[in-house]
This record gives sequence, C-alpha cells and structure tokens, in this order.
Amino acid sequence: MQTVLYPGSFDPVTTGHMDIIRRVAGLFDRVIVGILHNAEKPSGAFSVTERIVLLEDATAGLPNVEIQAFSGLLVDAVESSGAQAVVRGLRSAADVEIELQMARLNRHIGGVETLLLAAQPQVVHVSASMVREVGRYGGDLRGLVPDEILTRVVEGLRPQT
Ligand code: PNS
Repeated sequence: MQTVLYPGSFDPVTTGHMDIIRRVAGLFDRVIVGILHNAEKPSGAFSVTERIVLLEDATAGLPNVEIQAFSGLLVDAVESSGAQAVVRGLRSAADVEIELQMARLNRHIGGVETLLLAAQPQVVHVSASMVREVGRYGGDLRGLVPDEILTRVVEGLRPQT
C-alpha cells in the first residue's frame, strides 16, 4: 500500500490545502494529513484538537484520507506513520525556494523523499496566514476555506469583544 504524508500547520485548513489533498488522494492508496506542531510552543489561532476536527470534516468525503497530529521533526513523523514519501504543494517561486530547502534537508537528515505538486491557479493566492488575517478583520472567507467549515472558521477567528 502506497502511503504519503501531507504535512503542515493547517491553522486552519484552506481550499488550497484541499486542492492538494483531493488530488493526492486520487494518486495514492492512503494519505495521512499530518498536523505538525511544536508541543512547547503555544498553539496558533486554532488548537491542534480544533484543527483535527476541521480537517476531519473537510475531508469526510475522501475515504483514503486520515488526519494525525505529530510533534517534533517531520522525518520522525514520516517514520512513525509508515509513509513512503512526503507531499507538499507549490504556489509560487517563493514556495519553490522554501520547499526545495525543506525537501533537501529532510532527505539529508532522514532519507525522506518529497513530492512537490503544483497548486491549481484558482488557489495560488490562498494561504492559512491570509485566512487568519482576513478572518480577524471580519473579511469574507468564502472560497478560502472549505464550505463545510466556513462558519466555524469565521467564529474562531472573530476578535473577542
Ligand atoms: O503549513 P506550513 O506551516 O507551511 O508547514 C510547515 C511544516 C510544519 C511542514 C514544517 O515547518 C515542518 O516540517 N515542521 C516540523 C519540524 C521539522 O521537521 N523541521 C525541519 C524541516 S523544515
């Protein structure tokens, strides 16, 4: 069984992440979406538990996709999950720089192979950091996060009054 790990912060999952997850789910037997977090650092806009539930709901229609959380190094997550490779999405030339460095580093320290998938043009402007910023100021998040979780993301990012 060919298993790949799609790692990220997913704070929160976006339509850009879903583009990659859907396409990878069509290519491999099993896709593990791995929330990589630092156990010592405070969580982001959404707790790891909230991120897991949001991802589970957004991927409910994809039977070969599962959600797991890992702390520490990505290469250790690859080993413990039993994945054969890592998948990451590329939106821009800036992503290429970062992703090549990460891919080479992970191959160097853990022998881990990374597959880089070109994001579809409709989602190249989407990032979780932009979603958090737009959401904090009450902007429209439709099309930036999956419809199934839109209300919860809007609520979760709304400034406390
Ligand atoms: O969604 P992101 O924030 O672009 O994901 C980045 C992530 C979590 C995949 C990356 O920071 C990561 O792999 N972190 C785990 C720690 C690690 O292995 N660092 C060395 C390789 S970059």
